[in-house]
Amino acid sequence: MRFVDLRSDTVTIADDAMREVMARAEVGDDVFHEDPTVNRLQEMSAEITGMEAGLFVPSGSMGNLICLMVHTEKGDEIYLGRQDHIFMYEAASASVVAGVQHRIFENREDGTLDLDEVAFAQRSDDAHQPRSRLISMENTHNRCSGSPLPLDYMASVREFADERSLAVHLDGARVFNAALALGTSVAEVCSYADSVTFCLSKGLGAPVGSVVCGSKDFIYHAHRARKLLGGGMRQVGHLAAAGIFALENRVDRLADDHANAKRLAEGLSAMDGIDCDADLYKTNIVYFELTGDRNPRDFVKAMAKRGVRFFNLWAKRFRLVTHLGVTAEDIEFALKEFGEEL
Ligand SMILES: Cc1ncc(COP(=O)(O)O)c(C=O)c1O
Repeated sequence: MRFVDLRSDTVTIADDAMREVMARAEVGDDVFHEDPTVNRLQEMSAEITGMEAGLFVPSGSMGNLICLMVHTEKGDEIYLGRQDHIFMYEAASASVVAGVQHRIFENREDGTLDLDEVAFAQRSDDAHQPRSRLISMENTHNRCSGSPLPLDYMASVREFADERSLAVHLDGARVFNAALALGTSVAEVCSYADSVTFCLSKGLGAPVGSVVCGSKDFIYHAHRARKLLGGGMRQVGHLAAAGIFALENRVDRLADDHANAKRLAEGLSAMDGIDCDADLYKTNIVYFELTGDRNPRDFVKAMAKRGVRFFNLWAKRFRLVTHLGVTAEDIEFALKEFGEEL
């Protein structure tokens, strides 16, 4: 039976070429900074993001948490969007571990925040109030249509932060998709932030891993924070090798994922029973809603039986994500199955 998995871009499986470089990787003890493959991945990542240094971490969530730990002190406040991954899906680690308070603002459809609202929330220097310390951006924005945040918005966040002595963190789990959609470099997208976390295990197709990048001093402290979280790793060059392979071979092909997502969105938008505004989707993530009163869970189950897997993320809203395991033919197959099921 044909099967297409549109649940997430994290579901990809390493192919023979990637496994081969992982098996052959030159390794050492990374806790002693002696793993040449990890060192190379970190140097490459710093260069790509235009930052001074990088740190290999097990996951995007740990990378984001490490950045928050380095930028803040307990009792500080961080500004985030209500739909941001750090607020929605990271087990409240910013509160539990970094000890900071989230200050939440509504995201617009494209993931941006209204900076006038944020300005209004700014704390004064007063012993009753937490200290405002950081503003975070997510680019691309997962829950907001997979949108690439526009560069002029990122520039305005940078300016806003500089005027208020706030640090800027970028959750760039899909920053390569953002750069592609914006027609610019990853370094340009990261240039508005003090720190970035990007993921090797999403569109880039590595089995695991993310990289935190920032200044040399920032990464020095990030290394300590990773240790505190139990994230000291040993001969982890086998995993870093997959990351290097992904950075060298899997960036340009993200254009296929974007084209496949666009075709999917256009196909769905033409169907009765589905509400999907294809113009909203510029990267590898597509959302749609059912217009009738069909139970969303039943719909997901029925489509899975037809070989098309995806998630019902909230209410009647469904998410579809393209990735290197999904071909243009898979998209046509999925559209055909949607058409028959509706
Ligand atoms: C926008 C965003 N940030 C961070 C993460 C966390 O990455 P990980 O699953 O590696 O912890 C994800 C994961 O889906 C994500 O979509």
